[in-house]
Amino acid sequence: MIKIAFAGKGGSGKSSISGTLARVLARRGKPILALDSDPVPGMPYSLGIPVDDSPTPDDVVVEGVEGEPRWVLRPGLDAESFISQYAAVGPDGVRYLQFGNTWGHVSTLQRAQFAWSQVVKEMDPTAWNVVGDLPGGTRQAMFGWAKYANLLAIVVEPTPKSIHVGRRLRNISKAAWGPDNVAVVANKVENPSDIEQIEERLELPVIAAVPADPAVTAADKLGCAPLDQPAGPFVDAIEALATRVVEQYDA
Ligand SMILES: Nc1ncnc2c1ncn2[C@@H]1O[C@H](COP(=O)(O)OP(=O)(O)OP(=O)(O)O)[C@@H](O)[C@H]1O
Ligand SMILES: [Mg+2]
Repeated sequence: MIKIAFAGKGGSGKSSISGTLARVLARRGKPILALDSDPVPGMPYSLGIPVDDSPTPDDVVVEGVEGEPRWVLRPGLDAESFISQYAAVGPDGVRYLQFGNTWGHVSTLQRAQFAWSQVVKEMDPTAWNVVGDLPGGTRQAMFGWAKYANLLAIVVEPTPKSIHVGRRLRNISKAAWGPDNVAVVANKVENPSDIEQIEERLELPVIAAVPADPAVTAADKLGCAPLDQPAGPFVDAIEALATRVVEQYDA
């Protein structure tokens, strides 16, 4: 099963790439769970799932007893039933789970966070290929939000700032719980020297070179998924990424 999480600087292209990859893999017949831990929605747009602002209901959790986390899934609701009840079903059959919504009450968001961690920890690893989208920056990745992943894909644009964030994220492999594999997806690439620069500075394998594609900008303006627009080189690059991920990281 593929367990991949995307991290990187804000705006580097994590949601565009992860959402498109999730659908490309689903079209190849894989059961896909898209895990969006960014409370600000980006991934549903690239999946082509209507964005609704309803938070996960409060009553999915109850207070934990001594020795348990503060909030635990309510009796009778396990990780798999949570996924079947609360994950949205998107185009190509992708299941989509978002951890919470920003405008929920703070306590609600906290409960959603506990529910999220328990679901991610206890879900059946043989049931789902997972494609995760983290918020921009290093915080969530460093706090272990992507423990489900055996491949952390760092999305890097060919700019000094984006490469800098990529270098920070690279340190995650030093954590005891860190992913087995860390690799780079170079995005908005315009020429071969962009890749050389990224490879040289990050010293990690570059598993995809995704070109800057006006079709992605056009899809973004319409608020729709790149896969639901006429395909351009972006989609071709994600197809190639899917093949690479299946060949190399499908454990
Ligand atoms: N290969 C590409 N070609 C052209 N535009 C792109 C490409 N990849 C991403 N973009 C554009 O860059 C912007 C940021 O992309 P996206 O939202 O996927 O990034 P993100 O890393 O998820 O951002 P955030 O950190 O805010 O979650 C969007 O306007 C998107 O359309
Ligand atoms: Mg995003």
